[in-house]
Amino acid sequence: MPRGEVLPVAGEDDRMWPPAPARAGAGGPPYGSGPEPLSGGMSIRRAAVAIRPYVPGDEPALYEVCLRTGADGGDASGLYSDRRLLGEVFVGPYLALQPDLAFVLDDGSGAEGYVLGALDTRAFELACERLWWPGLREARPLESVPEGAPERWLAEWIHRPRPAPEEVLEAFPSHLHIDLAPRWQGKGWGSRMLATLFDALAARGSRGVHLGVSLANTKAVAFYRKLGFEDLIEGGGAVFMGRPL
Ligand SMILES: CC(C)(COP(=O)(O)OP(=O)(O)OC[C@H]1O[C@@H](n2cnc3c(N)ncnc32)[C@H](O)[C@@H]1OP(=O)(O)O)[C@@H](O)C(=O)NCCC(=O)NCCS
Repeated sequence: MPRGEVLPVAGEDDRMWPPAPARAGAGGPPYGSGPEPLSGGMSIRRAAVAIRPYVPGDEPALYEVCLRTGADGGDASGLYSDRRLLGEVFVGPYLALQPDLAFVLDDGSGAEGYVLGALDTRAFELACERLWWPGLREARPLESVPEGAPERWLAEWIHRPRPAPEEVLEAFPSHLHIDLAPRWQGKGWGSRMLATLFDALAARGSRGVHLGVSLANTKAVAFYRKLGFEDLIEGGGAVFMGRPL
């Protein structure tokens, strides 16, 4: 794709970062954590954990997170011969086309999780059609991936991506993806990362956000419901969920 081309951002301002205290998961710990105090005025240094904006160079680590959580929330490393493929479909387009809505969990050693947003889903799909899918289609012709191969559904996605249902977009025009490396799950970081994205989307004028999740990923479905998402449309083993902003 042409370098430097990203989707225009409506209403961007510099209040977005650092984000306001979480609306979802309010009352949790702060966005970063520093040295741990000990009694007697001593402290042990531990790596600071923080949510920060995506920066170029994060891609390989984020593609790995995508793979390690890509089997209904579990590790998909053994499923695909190409470790980058899942990331190229579900992470790369957001980093390339909507980098201002990509946030990363960084434990000091690098990126360990992400939340990725698209402000206007239809505009994003059109931008992918123009700027992201053509290169992948050329690199991975559909006929080069045999029927029945584990990668087949991803090849089909690249060649025939499914647009979001129209009825979802009326109230929930934005959408998101979130994945955390296993050791950062269940500690409140997912809630804080969603709150960060909600603030960024709201600051840009979005009225609602949706996502699609496999019904087999019961943990994620429970997480989204807890964070205020409602079920919208179910089918094909997945559910679309939406939340006003
Ligand atoms: C799904 C995911 C993003 C959630 O983030 P997280 O940091 O683990 O979740 P949190 O710790 O912020 O949990 C937030 C709330 O959701 C609830 N929740 C989380 N997992 C749950 C589960 N298995 N069952 C019921 N509720 C659950 C928690 O109870 C928590 O509420 P509480 O604070 O009142 O206890 C994260 O676990 C993850 O990346 N999983 C693997 C990848 C994945 O499935 N991504 C989603 C693909 S659509």
